[in-house]
Amino acid sequence: MVQKPRAHSSIVRAGLRTGESVRVLIPHRRVEGRLKQLAREIRRDFPKDRLHLIGVLKGCVFFLADLARELGGEVSFDFMAVSSYGKGTDSSGEVKLIKDLDVRIEGKTIIVVEDILDTGLTLKYLLRLFEERKPKHLRVVVLLDKVERRIADVRADYIGFTIPNEFVVGYGLDFDERYRNLADVCVLQFDSHGKTRVKK
Ligand code: IMP
Repeated sequence: MVQKPRAHSSIVRAGLRTGESVRVLIPHRRVEGRLKQLAREIRRDFPKDRLHLIGVLKGCVFFLADLARELGGEVSFDFMAVSSYGKGTDSSGEVKLIKDLDVRIEGKTIIVVEDILDTGLTLKYLLRLFEERKPKHLRVVVLLDKVERRIADVRADYIGFTIPNEFVVGYGLDFDERYRNLADVCVLQFDSHGKTRVKK
């Protein structure tokens, strides 16, 4: 069901523009519940290690912040920024390093925290980079996995939700830097008169 903006909805506060609408795909409470499970799974695999989370900016911010607080034990984190998407909804296919890590990862238990796994090109690039730096363990957690879109041969070790091939926003995910502040994960839709269309 397409949600129409209501006076007090988070959608209005998030700046829904004319010609665009959002449909809730995963409500925030389900995200919260799944995060607790993911944190338990990760901790079970590494009960004693300090977990060094590497967030891929900017989509990871809420996911990483919430996951870090669910993980018991020692946790530290760092951030990386790459560019793979332009202003639209389709990937350019190119991955470029924008910001490198602040600290070394050699000998550490690394959990890469990604918002969404789409073509997999970003993750493939990152994993190659991190492997060269010789961490003790290297694992990947993604909130969303769009399996149908995969090009690169990569997979995540921990997956929040497998989703259909639709362009999603909210809970950190953006369209042209907008909608990150929606609490729910939503599908972004453009009406027939809108200038921009989802291509996939
Ligand atoms: P990949 O390299 O194609 O796997 O894309 C990874 C990056 O593309 C993610 O970290 C997101 O920033 C972005 N991305 C892919 N699909 C979506 C989407 O549906 N909504 C918002 N961003 C997306």
